[in-house]
Parts: sequence; C-alpha cells; structure tokens
Amino acid sequence: MLRMRRGHIFRLLSCILIISGILYFFLHESVVLPTLSRPFPASKYATRATYEYTSIYRRNANRTFEAGLDAQLLAFEQSFYSSLPSNEQNLLANLTIHQISTTKQQSQMSAWITQWRTNNPGWSYELLTTHPVSLLAIYKGIPSILSAYENPSLRRDLVRYLLLWYHGGFYTDVNTWERVSLNHCPPIVEFTQGGREVSLMVGVDRDEPFYNRETVEMMGWGRGFGLGIDTVWAMKRFDPIMRRAIVRSISHAEVKKGLEGTKWFHDDWDVFESDWEEWERSEISGAGMFTDIVLEVLSDGLRDDHELRDRDAGLERRVSWKKFKHLQTTLWIDRSQAREGADMRGIAVLPIDVWSNGQNHSGAGTFEAETACVNRANRDGPKKTWHGKGFW
Ligand SMILES: *[C@@H]1O[C@H](CO)[C@@H](O)[C@H](O)[C@H]1NC(C)=O
Ligand SMILES: *[C@@H]1O[C@H](CO)[C@@H](O)[C@H](O)[C@H]1NC(C)=O
Ligand SMILES: *[C@@H]1O[C@H](CO)[C@@H](O)[C@H](O)[C@H]1NC(C)=O
Repeated sequence: MLRMRRGHIFRLLSCILIISGILYFFLHESVVLPTLSRPFPASKYATRATYEYTSIYRRNANRTFEAGLDAQLLAFEQSFYSSLPSNEQNLLANLTIHQISTTKQQSQMSAWITQWRTNNPGWSYELLTTHPVSLLAIYKGIPSILSAYENPSLRRDLVRYLLLWYHGGFYTDVNTWERVSLNHCPPIVEFTQGGREVSLMVGVDRDEPFYNRETVEMMGWGRGFGLGIDTVWAMKRFDPIMRRAIVRSISHAEVKKGLEGTKWFHDDWDVFESDWEEWERSEISGAGMFTDIVLEVLSDGLRDDHELRDRDAGLERRVSWKKFKHLQTTLWIDRSQAREGADMRGIAVLPIDVWSNGQNHSGAGTFEAETACVNRANRDGPKKTWHGKGFW
C-alpha cells in the first residue's frame, strides 16, 4: 500500500518535473536574444587528458567495404593521373574558393558570400546551390558514391570531400566571413611563396583534452579536441586524406543506418539538413572523423622517430592529439618527413586562432586577433539536444 503510494507520488513528481522542464525550455528559448554565442555553464576538468577517441561508427565499420571503395578511388585517380598533360602532373589545384549552400542561405548570407566572391583577387569563386550534377558525373563509375549521395544527412559533408578530392581548392562554409583577404593570410602567403611540400591545410577547432565527459557532452561534442572542416584548403588535387574522408564518411553512414534503420524525410537540396545530431554527424562524416584520419595518416606515414609521435600511445607510438595541444604556430608537416612510400602528401595544421577564433573555449582568441584570417558564426554553447540539427 505504502509502496504503491510512493510509486504514485514519484510518478506525479516526475511528470511535474518533466512538464516544468519543457516549459522552462520553451520560455527560456523564447527570450534568447539573437547573439552569436550562448553563455557557458562552468566547465569541469578530468585529471588526465584524453588524446585519442574511437567512436561507435569507427568500431563497427565494415573494413572490407572501406578497402574496396578506397581501391576504386585509387584506381580512378591513377588512370586519371596518367591521362594528365605533364604540366598538370604536379596536381596543383586552381585557386578557387568553393562554397555550398541552399538558395535560402544564399540570400541570408549574401553579404558574406559577396565578400568571399569579390575580396580575393587572383582567386575564382564557385557557389554550389543545387544538386552537383557535374561533380556526381565524375564519380559515375563508383556506384557506392552515387547511392551514398542519396542520404540527405550525409550530403553536405560528402559533397565537400568529393569536390576537394577531385578539384582541390579552398572550401569555406557559408557561415564564415574573412577578416583579411586570403592573399593576406600569413600561412596562405607562406605556402604560395613556395618551398612547402604540403597538399592540405586544416586548422585546430577544439582543444580541450582535459574536459571531462560531462562537459564534453554539455558542449554537444563527441570529444574534446579536433581539427575543423568548416574551412579547408586542398592545394593539390587527389589528397590521400580527402580520399579517406570520402571512404570513411560513406562507411560510417552505413553503420548509422544499420543502428537505426533508414529514416530520410526529405530529398530536396533546399532542405539540405541533417537528421543527425551535431556530435554524431561530426563522428560519422564531419570534424571528428576527419581528425581521426589525419592522425592515422600521420601515424602510418611519419618516420619512426618523428617528434609528433606520442610515446604513450601504443608500441607503434601513434600520433595522438598530444602534440597538437596548445598549438601556437603553423605546423608544417612536409612530405619529406614521411617514410619512404607512405600514403601521405604533407599537411599544414593551423593554430585555432587562424580559422576557428571567436569561440568561448580552447583559448581560441578573438575574431580580431592579429592572426585571424577567417571568422565564423559561433555554433557552440549548451546543446539543444532534440533539435540541434539546423544547418549550423
Ligand atoms: C565565456 O566564458 C566565460 C568563462 O567561462 C564566461 O564568463 C563568459 O560569460 C562567456 N561568454 C560568452 C559570450 O559565452
Ligand atoms: C562488408 O562489405 C562487404 C563488401 O562490400 C560485403 O560483401 C559484406 O557483406 C559486408 N559485411 C557486413 C557485415 O555488412
Ligand atoms: C581550373 O580552372 C580552369 C579554368 O577555369 C578549368 O578549365 C579547370 O577545369 C580547372 N581545374 C580543376 C581541377 O578544377
């Protein structure tokens, strides 16, 4: 009798709690001002840093499928390469700025888009606002790519990798604007002056390896560290990291489908939205996945005695996040630092303040930092878990 009563009271209390939680959420939501960043609850730290992370998408991936798709892309690249005139065999990409948006975003972001388009002498500009028919035609011999494209949650990441692998060039999200023209961005100048043997430039985007699990989740993240993919420069075509990004994102999306079944609601370019939570998108096809392949390519490719290797990460001393922590200057990991025959072309890693400044964590610096080249509307803050699936 007493027990039943308790059960009732407990259920009643739970109901009240849930309802007031929902009310609080909506009331709270309705007064949020249109500022770019939301205030942060206090962060909590663990006593040990986390420098490596394996998502369920990675653990459950079908390696046979990945190897097959990778081989198809490599075969495509090799036959294409042999058909190139000798003056293009250095694989240098055009100086092109690529952006991808829906037509709605195109009008919302038109000031920033115009700035990218007009403020960069010597660069051409391409905006993709519809299904990328000619890009997909390039991949017509690889059916798993065409069928992966059908998944709207995967599309925006996949298209970016397909574009950058084949054409190369500078990609930046439509939620970014440039603080200085690309020709005045120091690491870009340094590359164009020559002498650096790299084919990809990426930037640190999060650098909080001491955040505890609770704080990582409160931030709406999968992990506390990582490179960004909102702005990426592929100076050369057919970069091996981009090839892996294509393979992994397709493979991880299959795992996701296996875990949850297919539930695609729309197939329209203009509702180019992901049904995935932001953190899982990062691990399936976004920045988390990308961070892993960069670390892996370096682990596999760098010389055994390379200083980026982590003495505490296995017998093979894998490259973990440890040496990227608190990066202050551009890290040029030239091709010449790789082992003989390694599947890597060299990569430049920028400190967080260059392309990922203005965030309220990781010592990101301000939008106006001397070193800042690209600014981005801030997405971080306590996560709205059940509808955190807007475009950004
Ligand atoms: C940034 O973080 C600090 C310290 O956690 C906090 O005091 C401040 O209000 C935050 N600012 C914004 C805009 O979230
Ligand atoms: C893994 O991929 C291979 C090649 O695509 C396929 O034949 C196999 O059935 C897949 N295995 C599982 C468990 O899905
Ligand atoms: C580079 O630009 C030229 C001229 O616009 C174009 O014909 C060519 O296809 C571009 N190359 C690549 C790899 O996109």
